[in-house]
Formats: sequence, structure tokens, C-alpha cells
Amino acid sequence: MASFSSSLKAILTLAFLVIFMGSSSAQLSTDFYSKSCPNLFSTVKSVVHSAIAKEARMGASLLRLFFHDCFVNGCDGSVLLDDTSSFTGEKRAAPNFNSARGFNVVDDIKSAVEKACPGVVSCADVLAIASRDSVVILGGPNWNVKLGRRDARTASQGAANNSIPRPTFNLNRLISSFNAVGLSTKEMVALAGAHTIGQARCTNFRARVYNETNIDSSFAQRRRGNCPRTTGSGDNNLAPLDLQTPTAFDNNYYKNLINRRGLLHSDQQFFNGGSTDSIVRSYSNSQGSFTSDFTAAMIKMGDISPLTGSKGEIRKNCRKIN
Ligand code: HEM
Ligand SMILES: *[C@@H]1O[C@H](CO)[C@@H](O)[C@H](O)[C@H]1NC(C)=O
Ligand SMILES: *[C@@H]1O[C@H](CO)[C@@H](O)[C@H](O)[C@H]1NC(C)=O
Repeated sequence: MASFSSSLKAILTLAFLVIFMGSSSAQLSTDFYSKSCPNLFSTVKSVVHSAIAKEARMGASLLRLFFHDCFVNGCDGSVLLDDTSSFTGEKRAAPNFNSARGFNVVDDIKSAVEKACPGVVSCADVLAIASRDSVVILGGPNWNVKLGRRDARTASQGAANNSIPRPTFNLNRLISSFNAVGLSTKEMVALAGAHTIGQARCTNFRARVYNETNIDSSFAQRRRGNCPRTTGSGDNNLAPLDLQTPTAFDNNYYKNLINRRGLLHSDQQFFNGGSTDSIVRSYSNSQGSFTSDFTAAMIKMGDISPLTGSKGEIRKNCRKIN
């Protein structure tokens, strides 16, 4: 009897631990490296700062890398891995190929961090901090970044193809893709405000500027000027996602949508007579409500399925497993 109740106790304790550890984002914390790497934040920020001073767009590219990391099996640095003989990485997945950039800057940040605190800070966390710093440096809001993620030992091209939303998606598919990682419709619209910075390639907005009707005609005409109609010509020509202030993190993205000047088909879906119109209106009217919802949603996106405890590893070089 005694041994029965003690084994019951052991099972219950184990069950409790499994449930508790299961919510692994509970293990992320803002002071995770405060003892093990006290100069982490200033080290990251100074590298991000010089990269953005060289090219303002780099802030946008780093922010997007974090999004593309978190949506594919969680924020685990998988997007940073180069292809190997045993797996094809995410860099050549459809949403990233010829498009995701900033990997050299991540390498520079990681080298500086390794110099300060060797073997301590994950690449996944480096990306989380670099994203926040990018937003701040480009004039956006600040937030405390939760840390303690570890790095994946593998990557998945298929998961990247399937999990990252496409610019061709309609509202319902966009909503499903965010819901699949635990983000609400409102959080999606707030996060999409990241398109207040950065650039897109002609191949991703050609159909919109030539064929869609929910677009301001002078805006469409202007964008056609640098994006030839024929597929294959000028595919990589760039245009700003926010035509007004492409290197300033503000709420102009939402003002553009109200004026039917969203660059991507997916952007304009958020203001197209549907359920998200009211959210776009409120963010366009209030920079404050946008920034508070954006920062909260960035923290929530950063909580997606982290590797913690003894899972994964602290990669030395963000491009390859140890
Ligand atoms: C709502 C679904 C989304 C779709 C369909 C989407 C799609 C895209 C596409 C197609 C591009 C241009 C890529 C190219 O032409 O090479 C782009 C750029 C960008 N995206 Fe998104 N995106 C979405 C949400 C987000 C989110 C949630 C973030 C970050 C929180 C984000 C951050 C960015 C940034 C900053 C850029 C510019 C990158 C640069 O200039 O290098 N996007 N996105
Ligand atoms: C992912 O998409 C790319 C580009 O469309 C394609 O070449 C590749 O085969 C896809 N990979 C998987 C595993 O689905
Ligand atoms: C516009 O739509 C037509 C008819 O569906 C299609 O044939 C054409 O390829 C589209 N053009 C672009 C640039 O997407």
C-alpha cells in the first residue's frame, strides 16, 4: 500500500513536471543572461547600430528574419542554418530564397557576443534582441526581450514553405496561418505593421499593381514604373512597403492601407471591407495603440515553441550546428 501511494505520488509529480515544463515559454525571462553575459545588450546593439548606419534597410531585414524564424517550428534559430548534406535548410525555402537577408550581420553580432561571453548566448536570442534593437533604432517602440531560447540542431525547408504566410493569401488564409502559431487576428494586424519598414521585390507585387482593383490608381501606376509586366523581367526590382517613410518605424503602413496603397496583395487584405478594417482604422488613428499592441505581439511571437532546458544547443556559429 505504501509503495503504491508513493509510486502514485511519483507519477503525479512527473505529470505535474511534464505539464509545467510543457509551457516552456514560462522559462524565458528578460534577465536570463544578466549574470552569464552582463554586456549582452550593449554588445548586440552596437553591431546592429553600425549595420543600420551603413544601410537603413538592414533593420527591416533583421526584423523579418526573426518572424521567419519563429513561424517555422518556433524561435530556434533554424532560419540561420546553411544547407548541409543531411538537410536542406530554410534559406532556400520559397519565402526566403533571394529574399531573406541579414545573415552576415547576424554573424557579426554573434562573433561579438562570443568574444564577450563564449558559448553562452543562443543564435535564436541574438535574433530576438537584434529585432528589438532594429525597431528602436528606426524610431519605433522599445520592449523588454524575453531570453533563454536554445538553438535547433536541424532546419526544415518544407516547414518554411508551409508555415510562412504568402503575399498571395486572402484574409482567411492569413488568419489561419497566424492562428496556427497561437496568434490572434488582432495580433496579426499589429505585427503586419512591421511593413512600415523595408522593401519588397517586383515578383511579389506585380499581380497586385497590374491586375487588382482595390488599389489607388496613381500608386499602382507609379509601382508599375519599376516592375515590368512580364514575369521574369525585373523580378528583383525593389519598392518600399511603406511608400511614405520606409526607414522609419511608424503607423504610416495603416494610413496607406486606408488609402488603398498597400504594396502586397496580403497587406491590402487587412483593409478590404472585412473584419480587420476597424483594427486598421484604429492603428492609423493612434500610434500609441499600434505601438503597445505591436510590442505585446512581438513578445508573444517570441514565445512560440522555444527550445529550453537541455533541448537544442548554444550554437557557436549561427550557420551550422556545433
Ligand atoms: C501577414 C503576413 C505577411 C506576409 C504575407 C508577408 C510577406 C512579405 C513579403 C512578400 C515581403 C517582401 C519579400 C521580398 O519581396 O523579397 C516582406 C517583407 C518584409 N516583411 Fe513581411 N509578411 C508578413 C508579415 C510580416 C511580419 C509579421 C513581420 C515582422 C513582424 C514582417 C516583416 C517584414 C519586413 C520588415 C520586410 C522587409 C524586409 C527587407 O526589406 O529586407 N512581415 N513580407
Ligand atoms: C519548398 O519550395 C521550394 C521553392 O518553391 C521548392 O523548390 C522546394 O522543393 C520546396 N521544398 C519542400 C520540402 O517542400
Ligand atoms: C493578370 O490577370 C490575367 C488574367 O487572369 C493573367 O493572364 C495575367 O497573367 C495577370 N497578370 C499579372 C501581371 O499577374
